[in-house]
Amino acid sequence: MDKKELIKEAFLARSKSYSPYSNFSVGAALLAKNGTVYQGCNIESASYTPTNCAERTAFFKAVSEGVTEFEAIAVVGGKTGATTDYCAPCGVCRQVMMEFCNPKEFKVILAKNEDEYKEFTLEEILPLGFGPKNIFG
Ligand code: THU
Repeated sequence: MDKKELIKEAFLARSKSYSPYSNFSVGAALLAKNGTVYQGCNIESASYTPTNCAERTAFFKAVSEGVTEFEAIAVVGGKTGATTDYCAPCGVCRQVMMEFCNPKEFKVILAKNEDEYKEFTLEEILPLGFGPKNIFG
């Protein structure tokens, strides 16, 4: 699975975004180490707080299927119907990534389209992150 394909999957995920309150549609494609891709979109709620980000939707789909080892995630997002700018994961989603991913190895790909993207490690977007290693050593 190359980066362009993963970005394409993120755009497919974005097309399923349920975001009538913010009109901000986000899609994520999470690549597991076993090669499976999990798509996630943001899912909003009339009472707002239950809203789930695209990235966490993808992680929770994978983990609930028994998959807990990951290589990379591609994220695309922006105002619904408009061209997308880079959409960086929120702090809560970064923390969920920290739970399951090696911060020095896991790649976070932020894309405007299949040709324009930026790539970071989890450690770069969550320096000094707190995770399972802090508890279990
Ligand atoms: N959102 C995501 O899905 N991922 C992000 O990384 C940032 C924000 C969603 C949450 C909410 O549905 C909408 O974008 C506006 O905040």
